[in-house]
Amino acid sequence: VVSHFQPKVLAGRKLLITAGPTYEAIDPVRGITNRSSGKMGFAIARAAAEAGADVTLVAGPVHLPTPQGVRRIDVMSARDMLDAVLPLAASNDVFVATAAVADWRPAQAADHKIKKNAAPGEAQVPHLALAENPDILATIAALPHPPLCVGFAAESQDLVKHAREKRQRKNVPLIVGNLGPATFGQDDNTLVLVDARGERELSRADKLTLARELVRDIAQRLTTYPA
Ligand code: CTP
Ligand code: CA
Repeated sequence: VVSHFQPKVLAGRKLLITAGPTYEAIDPVRGITNRSSGKMGFAIARAAAEAGADVTLVAGPVHLPTPQGVRRIDVMSARDMLDAVLPLAASNDVFVATAAVADWRPAQAADHKIKKNAAPGEAQVPHLALAENPDILATIAALPHPPLCVGFAAESQDLVKHAREKRQRKNVPLIVGNLGPATFGQDDNTLVLVDARGERELSRADKLTLARELVRDIAQRLTTYPA
């Protein structure tokens, strides 16, 4: 049973959330990934379920328990994540993209483990050709009747400027900015909500507290979405 102490501001609503990193195979034993813990996305999934929403969480490889009452789909690569999200997007009211999706993948994953095959110092160093991954958030936002799309932007500098640019480039109503990678894996965070009207900062708190605030904000936006 999910906590009864949160107001059910998302009762009757469906949320689709991506979380964690993606893993892009180089060969059967190696891959490209990143240090996203998935904590923010899992906290949002929990907060949304507490608020009465029907929640589907599409998670890359993370070490986190599934929040109570949340439907979880595990994926590895960015393309797996898109394949999981795309058929569900139109039937959801909200899409929250917290995943740290790998921007590139090896153009061709090797079928077998790549071997050094030489004496030390004489090895041929493999050169990885990369291909660009699909932008999951931009793809969903470009659907004919998109759910309310919420993007995240982890930046190391000029947070609000980059968040504004991303909001326009991906054509989404709301981007949530945070100053990573200082926050990666940590329990506390500071978020800034960037929409067409301006910015609102959520003061430093643990991720579940911030997630509950964000859920309230999203519930408010849903009352006038689509406009
Ligand atoms: N995103 C996505 N699919 C991608 C890349 C990003 O869905 N292939 C989503 C992320 O989940 C996040 C938002 O887009 O909600 C912004 O991701 P970010 O990596 O900050 O933006 P990029 O457009 O990839 O730009 P850059 O990494 O160069 O800052
Ligand atoms: Ca990126």
